[in-house]
Amino acid sequence: MAAQNKVAIVTGASAGIGKAAGVALVKAGWKVAFAARRADLLDKIAAECGAGKALAVATDVGKPESVKNLFAQTKAKFGRLDLLFNNAGMGAPAVPLDELPYEKWLEVVNANLNGMFLCTQEAFRLFKAQNPKGGRIINNGSISAHAPRPFSAPYTATKHAVTGLTKCIALDGRAHDICGCQIDIGNAATEMTERMNKGVPQPNGTTMVEPRMNVQHVADAIVHMASLPLDANVLFMTVMATKMPFVGRG
Ligand SMILES: NC(=O)c1ccc[n+]([C@@H]2O[C@H](COP(=O)([O-])OP(=O)(O)OC[C@H]3O[C@@H](n4cnc5c(N)ncnc54)[C@H](OP(=O)(O)O)[C@@H]3O)[C@@H](O)[C@H]2O)c1
Repeated sequence: MAAQNKVAIVTGASAGIGKAAGVALVKAGWKVAFAARRADLLDKIAAECGAGKALAVATDVGKPESVKNLFAQTKAKFGRLDLLFNNAGMGAPAVPLDELPYEKWLEVVNANLNGMFLCTQEAFRLFKAQNPKGGRIINNGSISAHAPRPFSAPYTATKHAVTGLTKCIALDGRAHDICGCQIDIGNAATEMTERMNKGVPQPNGTTMVEPRMNVQHVADAIVHMASLPLDANVLFMTVMATKMPFVGRG
């Protein structure tokens, strides 16, 4: 199917990676539903993309009814779904894990893991029912799906869990022409990584400024993963600032 007839949902699309990926997909010919909680930002982005190409749906991915509404509105406007970019996510303050309020743990688990599962469920339902059937789900993992930063228990735990979910999507989706895949990003320049310009805690107790990369590189990678036919899949892709501390134990 030509990109012109393809439809994507991008969560966490009001800022950062989600916004960049959604706009890049529109430029590549996709119709895109932009989802996040801040409706004013979504409306502005959708208007800039142009009528008929974009839909803004105020969504909290951690709330089942809100997620159902997102998928229903996308189906009503565009008729089908070909791609879900499960991107919405958040971190928690970097504090020793014994000092982390349980409410903050729950908030991160709800956004990063429960939200991803709820969107995946709705996408599976649409993918199975439509004709032609199938579609692709790209989960946003992280370098933190592989190695933790200091004081990052909720973020790291949920991102490791995302890897498990990605593998389950890839396996359970096979029978239905559903591709599951994951992008693991390191230090893209967004609001979330702004603090890296001032310095972030390192495992040896120091604080270090870390290099970041332009978020457009992530958006370009998403367009590539999304553009493959359903019988081909980039199962995992790591896109990172080349000189960030990760490879080589630091
Ligand atoms: N930047 C990086 O280097 C990096 C590295 C690894 C992984 N990631 C992952 O990439 C994703 C996006 O990060 P980013 O850097 O673009 O961060 P960001 O600029 O802070 O954007 C986060 C996005 O998620 C949305 N969001 C948060 N909670 C949500 C909820 N409950 N329901 C719906 N939307 C929600 C926010 O929108 P609203 O506030 O409007 O809801 C916003 O659009 C996250 O999953 C993050 O873990 C980023």
